[in-house]
Amino acid sequence: MRGASVRAPFRWVSLMAALALGSACASAVPQVTGADLARAQARDPGVSEADLQRGRTLYLSRCTSCHAPFPPASRNAEAWHHDLAKMRALAGIDAEQERLILVYLETFARP
Ligand code: HEC
Repeated sequence: MRGASVRAPFRWVSLMAALALGSACASAVPQVTGADLARAQARDPGVSEADLQRGRTLYLSRCTSCHAPFPPASRNAEAWHHDLAKMRALAGIDAEQERLILVYLETFARP
């Protein structure tokens, strides 16, 4: 009884910390909306919403095993191009996967 009442608050603290971290990560690697698709298509009319979604999923699955995902808005498009070329071999991605990740990152890159 005593043990349970002492431990419970610690569980809540770690749960809340996990939730806070989770939402911080989610906003740093933004979900794709209609406005984002319009921005991507202004750069490249051939881009689809599915391309952007796949790029985001690949970014989160292939680029986060060694370090946390860098927020897309932390770099401009040119810098992403350069960094992705450097990371391609480390991540073991093919040309098509690289293209999709780049399309996603460029859409959310800083100007
Ligand atoms: C196998 C481990 C590994 C994987 C997988 C990986 N990285 Fe990295 N990444 C590193 C290391 C190590 C560094 C720091 C050294 C460097 O900059 O070369 C780094 C640095 C970076 C930087 C900062 C570069 C700079 O000069 O500021 C960016 C941006 C980055 N990675 C993006 C990515 C992206 C995008 C992917 C997925 C395609 C990815 N990383 C996958 C290991 C990895």
